[in-house]
Amino acid sequence: MASDKSSSSPVSSSQATDTASSSTSNSLWGGRFQEPTDAFVERFTASVQFDRRLYTQDIRGSIAHASMLAKVGVITDDESQKIITGLKAISDDISNETFDWSVAREDVHMNIEAALTEKIGDVGKKLHTGRSRNDQVATDIRLYLRDAIDAVVAQLTRLQQGLISLATREAATIMPGFTHLQTAQPVTFGHHLLAWNAMLERDYSRLKDCQTRMNECPLGAAALAGTTYPIDREMTAAALGFTKPTENSLDSVSDRDFAIEFNACASIIMLHLSRFSEELVLWTSSQFDFIDLPDRFCTGSSIMPQKKNPDVPELVRGKSGRVYGHLVSLLTLMKSQPLAYNKDNQEDKEPLFDTVDTLLDCLNAYADMVPAITAKVDNMLVAAGKGFSTATDLADYLVRKGIAFRDSHEIVGNAVARCIEQGCDLSELPLETLQSYHSQIAEDVYDILTVEGSVASRDHIGGTAPQQVLSAAKRASTQINNRV
Ligand code: ARG
Repeated sequence: MASDKSSSSPVSSSQATDTASSSTSNSLWGGRFQEPTDAFVERFTASVQFDRRLYTQDIRGSIAHASMLAKVGVITDDESQKIITGLKAISDDISNETFDWSVAREDVHMNIEAALTEKIGDVGKKLHTGRSRNDQVATDIRLYLRDAIDAVVAQLTRLQQGLISLATREAATIMPGFTHLQTAQPVTFGHHLLAWNAMLERDYSRLKDCQTRMNECPLGAAALAGTTYPIDREMTAAALGFTKPTENSLDSVSDRDFAIEFNACASIIMLHLSRFSEELVLWTSSQFDFIDLPDRFCTGSSIMPQKKNPDVPELVRGKSGRVYGHLVSLLTLMKSQPLAYNKDNQEDKEPLFDTVDTLLDCLNAYADMVPAITAKVDNMLVAAGKGFSTATDLADYLVRKGIAFRDSHEIVGNAVARCIEQGCDLSELPLETLQSYHSQIAEDVYDILTVEGSVASRDHIGGTAPQQVLSAAKRASTQINNRV
């Protein structure tokens, strides 16, 4: 599982023992070579330090492959059974941390295959019939990312649920809505929170699309051209939970679109989290003072005793950079590669793993933190009344009295100018003064000049009225509950 870091923490090359080094070095392809690989090159070209994290997926793929080889008669049932039993034992060794990883054996695939032969004898050498590390690694990464998406979706869903219940609680809490970060019109806090949820809902749907597209099995493409054995690709695809085998063997071993697509989805999620973070940082400042974050999500200053810093949102905002960076790494990694597999592809793993880890951590932090946000309702309300936030409501009021919007816009602009001069709000102008701007203005104008009246009147789907927020929260919740 993507979140299972205990079984996946990378070893440094110095931690991995060189059980296959020097004399036996490169025994997996040694036949053609006249001299052993240079020690530096061995380390430089190895990926086991980080791709050992794919061991679960690699063993699952190998078990499916061995079963299929027996079914089509390339190996016997007995051989297949021995291989599968050996692979399961290796899986246990790895999870119990009693497995000797070797840099000389280059990557996770060759480490496991060599260990298998050590464990079960020569029959282990039959596992690699009709496949290549090229289709093997492409399969492993797809399996890994498929699971990683499930883990991301679980955290994303938890965060959305937190947002929706906070939005329900704060459906009638009034705050200023901003454009250009200037007070624009009053909105409800619940409405603002549901805007965040709307972004995450799109993120969910993007992840599921990406997962569906990646769910095809490259196994059987072998090195690049397919294999001469009578393999059953449908069988391995089904055994590994893929919807079908991939279409073209050359594309199967070289394609990393699914990884790029996943990283693009992750980048957009991080972009969203970064925007939330920016708002939380602003809102916790003494200038805004709209919300309080629980102490456990903040830290103090070593020199300024009064400080309570919103470190978690700040770090999440900062971490968006590394996820975008990984997206650019993957795009650049692929951009000039001729078909089919190239060793460049080995560079796909570290960015991907870090993207998954970063994204899971950030979503997890947010899912824990969001339900613990407290709204400073009074401060929000006072702020909502500043900056002539109901000026548009007055313009709309005049339109309802038969005045064209452009004219009412100008009339209200004049009234605002007067308020600025006098240092008061529109709702504080006496009726006679308001009437001097237009005779149709009556006592009922004060209903719409209040922030409560303003939000209540935006009473349609997607509007900020408390009733609308409550129904929107219900719809959002139903949508989440209907997820499969
Ligand atoms: N470690 C390699 C990778 O991650 C596995 C595939 C190696 N294939 C090869 N032909 N050298 O891409």
